[in-house]
Amino acid sequence: MLRVGVAGARGYTGEELVKILIKHPEVRLTYLAATLEKATAFDELFPKFRGRLDLKCENFSVDKAAEKCDLLFLALPHTVSMDFVPKLIKKGKKVIDLSADYRLKNFGIYKQWYHKAHKDKKNLKSSVYGLPELYRQKIKKASLIANPGCYPTAAILGALPILIAGLCEKDGLIIDAKSGVSGAGKKVALGYIYPEVNENFKGYKFNVHQHSPEINQELSKVSSSRVNVVFCPHLLPVNRGIFETIYVRLNKALDLAKAVDIYKKFYKDEPFVRVKNAGVLPELKDVVGTNFCDIGLVCDKDRKLLIVISVIDNLLKGASGQAVQNMNIMCGFGERTALL
Ligand SMILES: NC(=O)c1ccc[n+]([C@@H]2O[C@H](COP(=O)([O-])OP(=O)(O)OC[C@H]3O[C@@H](n4cnc5c(N)ncnc54)[C@H](OP(=O)(O)O)[C@@H]3O)[C@@H](O)[C@H]2O)c1
Repeated sequence: MLRVGVAGARGYTGEELVKILIKHPEVRLTYLAATLEKATAFDELFPKFRGRLDLKCENFSVDKAAEKCDLLFLALPHTVSMDFVPKLIKKGKKVIDLSADYRLKNFGIYKQWYHKAHKDKKNLKSSVYGLPELYRQKIKKASLIANPGCYPTAAILGALPILIAGLCEKDGLIIDAKSGVSGAGKKVALGYIYPEVNENFKGYKFNVHQHSPEINQELSKVSSSRVNVVFCPHLLPVNRGIFETIYVRLNKALDLAKAVDIYKKFYKDEPFVRVKNAGVLPELKDVVGTNFCDIGLVCDKDRKLLIVISVIDNLLKGASGQAVQNMNIMCGFGERTALL
């Protein structure tokens, strides 16, 4: 049995990790941590786990984590993970970091978007971006996974097939993205409290959201030239789920049947990406609570425009589900194990 731990277990993605890991047949949860003055039974923090998990959640200690675990999930805020990763890697542990600390390969760009200099350039170099649909072979051999962001997961999976087919204008990608409120974590800020979000719908950080450089980095890597997306996020008055509408300018006319065929062929062996038939669009309720990304397409042949709809659960395929998918690949377990 692989011994696994979660740092940040009291947060939204940490809680989802615990839910998945307690039903995973190949692992044993041995360590849970957050910022706590006193170690507290996890089922006291989350009564839903009573009778399912007998483990305390304690103040995070990197030494204790290394002693108790073979693999650690870091569900910590960005700029925090990089304080702990070097020690864990040095001790031969596998690490899956859910924060942004190891996603952007250019540390100048990291500093520009996260307002702090990167402290661990060595491990940044060897970290693998944990999107299995792109990097499965590298993930198999990795010690450190930079688990992708929620918005970037939906955006990259939505844009990949048409970009790789060489059919789209690289500068013409517009991503209109909407996320449920859990995407912002448990922080209490005015804009995220119930009366501000309920019965409301608003945009934020248009073209200045920290996920833009991550999307650009990954889409540029698979294209022959630089991709620079227009990225417009919005806050949906729901707890969880991401719905992205991606407008793609095509470099030649394409009909819907052909576009669907390109997407279906591209994802035919992927266990967690489902492409809808022509005329059917994805909905949040079909992916929330699952690790799936559902993709649907609309084509305007005369205008040479493809519209891609990509939907995920931000806490699962956008975070903890994908993190477990990565662990399954790294450790040679069945890729779908414990994931719906
Ligand atoms: N929410 C999403 O949809 C989503 C999706 C993809 C990626 N992510 C990323 O995943 C990470 C976690 O997100 P989240 O939404 O779960 O955040 P969250 O709900 O705010 O939880 C963060 C957790 O980290 C703990 N923590 C903070 N500083 C710490 C420190 N110095 N040492 C130890 N523990 C510390 C907190 O402890 P306390 O509970 O004691 O305060 C809390 O348990 C973030 O980097 C986020 O960007 C989130």
